[in-house]
Amino acid sequence: MAEIIDGKKISAEIREELKVKVLELQNKYGDVPGLAVVLVGDDPASAVYVRMKGKGCEEIGIRSFQYILPETTTEDELMALIDELNKDSKVSGILVQLPLPKHISEKAIINAIDPIKDVDGFHPINVGKVVADEDDCFYPCTPLGCQILINRYVKNLKGKHLVVVGRSSIVGKPVANMMMQKNDRANCIVTVCHTAAPDISLYTRQADILVVAAGRANTVTGNMVKDGVVVIDVGVNRIADPSDPSKTIIVGDVDFKSVEPKASAITPVPGGVGPMTIAMLLSNTVRAFELQRKK
Ligand code: GUN
Repeated sequence: MAEIIDGKKISAEIREELKVKVLELQNKYGDVPGLAVVLVGDDPASAVYVRMKGKGCEEIGIRSFQYILPETTTEDELMALIDELNKDSKVSGILVQLPLPKHISEKAIINAIDPIKDVDGFHPINVGKVVADEDDCFYPCTPLGCQILINRYVKNLKGKHLVVVGRSSIVGKPVANMMMQKNDRANCIVTVCHTAAPDISLYTRQADILVVAAGRANTVTGNMVKDGVVVIDVGVNRIADPSDPSKTIIVGDVDFKSVEPKASAITPVPGGVGPMTIAMLLSNTVRAFELQRKK
């Protein structure tokens, strides 16, 4: 029986700490951090995430600015908004919700965000600083949430074999880069496997720690892991409810039922990595405010 990694509880603890920190900043600077969240189009899942981010800010005393723009917004119009937000001293962090509509280049927009306001950690300057082991950068929110969960449940990470399933720029690649860094929060032996592997179980079976960010339900099943593995499931998939096909449920990328009995610890979906992502966004926004005053 695995220990269930309670991301909801850990994220609540972190948000309480951040609330205190925001009060301290208010006393020290007479100002609080601000987060601008930009949503283009009306993807319902993205709209929910954006609302949750705004609510998360308000709960800890961060100022929230939300820009909900129509699907027809042009790249130039979005660029003009980014330029305005880059210059606005009330805005500590900028997050443009992805995916963007097809007619807007995500790369161009991410590159236009001032790296010191890039609380998503997606700008090439921040990506590069993680690879180069420079720590005045922003670590992307979901990978940072995974790293904190791993550190709560695995002591002495040095030399542990961490296997990542998935190579996305949002999760797989940054998790791998962060977890191979030479520091006490990481120092793992890292393997990344992905859709080009004929059989990912050759890799997943070797994992002491398994981070699954493949974007597909049931990517990892019980026969693909070794006893005692620590499993971090980043997946969010909506599937038909097996007990009532007229309804849907949210599941991860890991088949919880068959993997949990072999694992020593595992994140549930929902309630594992998800809540950590928002807490890390708030943490990065506080960090942005502080970095901008240290310049
Ligand atoms: N869409 C899905 N995950 C993310 C994220 O972490 N940041 C942004 N900006 N968009 C996303």
